[in-house]
Amino acid sequence: MLLLVGVILLQMDSRLSGLPYYNGFYYDHVMNDKGNGHEEIHFNGIKLVVETPGDPVFTYRGANVTLSCEYHYDPQLDQPRKIRIKWSKLREDSTKDQDVLVAVGLKHRSFGDFSGRTHLQQDSPGDVSLVIHDLRLQDRGKYRCEVIDGLEDESGIVDLELQGVVFPYQPHHGRYMLNFHEAKKTCEEQDAVIASFEQLFKSWEEGLDWCNAGWLADGTVQYPITLSREPCGGRGMAPGIRSYGERHKNLHHYDVFCFSSYLKGMVYYLSQPQGFTLEEAKQACQDDKAEIAKVGQLYAAWHFHKLDRCDAGWLADGSVRYPIVFPRPKCGPPEPGVRNFGFPKHGGFGAYCYKMN
Ligand SMILES: *[C@@H]1O[C@H](CO)[C@@H](O)[C@H](O)[C@H]1NC(C)=O
Repeated sequence: MLLLVGVILLQMDSRLSGLPYYNGFYYDHVMNDKGNGHEEIHFNGIKLVVETPGDPVFTYRGANVTLSCEYHYDPQLDQPRKIRIKWSKLREDSTKDQDVLVAVGLKHRSFGDFSGRTHLQQDSPGDVSLVIHDLRLQDRGKYRCEVIDGLEDESGIVDLELQGVVFPYQPHHGRYMLNFHEAKKTCEEQDAVIASFEQLFKSWEEGLDWCNAGWLADGTVQYPITLSREPCGGRGMAPGIRSYGERHKNLHHYDVFCFSSYLKGMVYYLSQPQGFTLEEAKQACQDDKAEIAKVGQLYAAWHFHKLDRCDAGWLADGSVRYPIVFPRPKCGPPEPGVRNFGFPKHGGFGAYCYKMN
């Protein structure tokens, strides 16, 4: 039997070699003809085709999303075949994929932080689209939809992207203090994730200009410049993303670019006449059944909820900032943005609090 399979594959190879482009695979359809005494075996080339959308799917944190994936046989089969579906997520900084969900027939199982919030849509025959509920920032990325029929399999990729905002981050102990691992953790502490190159690029197109190099999710270090100038790669260089390329994840230290998406709940400003110290600000938010806001939450509120407030307030990391959507005199530079006072040693500011709805 094994030998036979070898012969079949050889035959198919010669049949396929003339095709200019081949998207799919052929498997052997074996029929036994019992009519004339001995077994005759016919081979029909039947192609399994898996279709996924070519464009990225854009949505936001907290949404439910369907990553579409459909398969069919060409030519069509009279009888359904037993297949296995496997969804996995490609990892940016490693070669091993992350398991998301496997399904055989009506049974399915999802893995890790996908368990309990994913299932297959199965609206029609051949529909093996993946539904993910309550999207998290970490869910962004490329997903592989794999259809396995016996020993053969065919797959397609769906790119899931989140709408959001990229912000540069420097910790309280100063410039260029984070290795890659610390950079990732630092973003997570701000209710954000380390930004991807695509996210940084999109923000650059929208006007982000920052003259300090920061880590990205792929382990490279880059920075976005919209207005060329001497200390930021030189006046003669065209605007763009300046790259230091891949850096050593343990040994090299930079700032980081973080990414945040839509925020459930709200960020608001609290004050008292003489202002708060950082500790008083935390307490004031708690007394209001809220918590002091994180940097990623302030950016998300500025970007998505158009929070505009010309009053400096404490955030959880000990920095003092304020969000401006409509630039005006005495509220910082002429562009919209989140203004940053750094990490003041003394009090006298308001507080930005975050409350879940
Ligand atoms: C997502 O789906 C769940 C369950 O069907 C539903 O309760 C929730 O409101 C949906 N969320 C959004 C943002 O549509």
